[in-house]
Amino acid sequence: MANWVSGKVIQVHHWTEALMSLIVQAPVDKFTAGQFAKLALDIEGERVQRAYSYVNSPEDPNLEFYLVTVPEGKLSPNLSALTIGDEVLVTQQASGFFVLEEVPDATTLWMLSTGTAIGPFLSILQLGEDLERFENIVLVHAVRYANDLSYLPLMEKLVERYQGKLRIQTIVSRENHIGSLTGRIPALIENGALEKIVGLTITPKESHIMLCGNPQMVRDTQQLLKEQREMRKHLRRKPGHITSEQYW
Ligand SMILES: Cc1cc2nc3c(=O)[nH]c(=O)nc-3n(C[C@H](O)[C@H](O)[C@H](O)COP(=O)(O)OP(=O)(O)OC[C@H]3O[C@@H](n4cnc5c(N)ncnc54)[C@H](O)[C@@H]3O)c2cc1C
Ligand SMILES: NC(=O)c1ccc[n+]([C@@H]2O[C@H](COP(=O)([O-])OP(=O)(O)OC[C@H]3O[C@@H](n4cnc5c(N)ncnc54)[C@H](OP(=O)(O)O)[C@@H]3O)[C@@H](O)[C@H]2O)c1
Repeated sequence: MANWVSGKVIQVHHWTEALMSLIVQAPVDKFTAGQFAKLALDIEGERVQRAYSYVNSPEDPNLEFYLVTVPEGKLSPNLSALTIGDEVLVTQQASGFFVLEEVPDATTLWMLSTGTAIGPFLSILQLGEDLERFENIVLVHAVRYANDLSYLPLMEKLVERYQGKLRIQTIVSRENHIGSLTGRIPALIENGALEKIVGLTITPKESHIMLCGNPQMVRDTQQLLKEQREMRKHLRRKPGHITSEQYW
């Protein structure tokens, strides 16, 4: 049984009609960067709960969540209606294994995300611990429209902070946008465009890939990396090259 604590919404950013960030204060236990909490609202007498990744560093007391409104969804439209001062329930303890402790050493760490799943990577990068063991880090954010690149300013700030170690690349699938690749993650790996623009290659010897977000993207990318690059899922008992988290 989840242990719920009461959270108070202290800030809301509506980036687009469908995308928002909620900043919440709640007496939660310390989480590990990359983990998620569950948020819940009591809707018509029923507690509706879903998983949401922390975007903030665990050292930041303001809990940040990046949310997309799924039009027919049960919880997300209600979360998108929250305003400053409203209550939202948060699980006291965070969950999940999409954390650096589960990632083996590599020369290059690739962080590949779609949509709101950039969150765990921003938490890891904002904390900035345990990253010395990677020579390069590549953060990729793939979205439908350029307007959905809500955290691009933060991504650019992180590039400055990491002084050459971090490279970022945006991908936009449904329009052309200067500075972004056009298309989808697996296709842009398959045709070499992602590696070319970033200036690093994906090889089993040098790379570890973290995949987060759309489950079909996660599956398609894993399949491609297996077939084209001889890379496999990383397991504690059988080390590999890919760590993933699916959002639904
Ligand atoms: C580990 C984990 C972490 C997650 N972190 C986040 C997060 O940080 N931000 C976030 O917005 N969501 C996140 N999700 C998804 C979230 O838990 C809910 O599924 C989502 O908010 C939809 O809930 P709902 O009740 O509105 O829709 P439901 O009535 O549950 O409908 C679910 C359907 O909505 C679609 N869907 C669900 N989530 C998404 C999504 N993020 N993007 C696109 N389509 C989606 C899928 O088609 C899915 O079948 C995460 C899920 C998991 C498992
Ligand atoms: N983003 C918005 O502006 C918006 C607006 C209104 C409602 N919504 C709702 O929000 C939900 C989520 O939308 P989202 O845009 O955040 O997430 P999404 O649908 O997962 O799309 C994010 C990115 O992932 C890509 N993608 C999808 N399937 C893939 C696959 N198999 N392999 C590789 N890449 C893949 C998408 O490319 P493609 O474009 O090629 O699919 C897009 O670039 C949906 O239910 C949607 O109806 C979103």
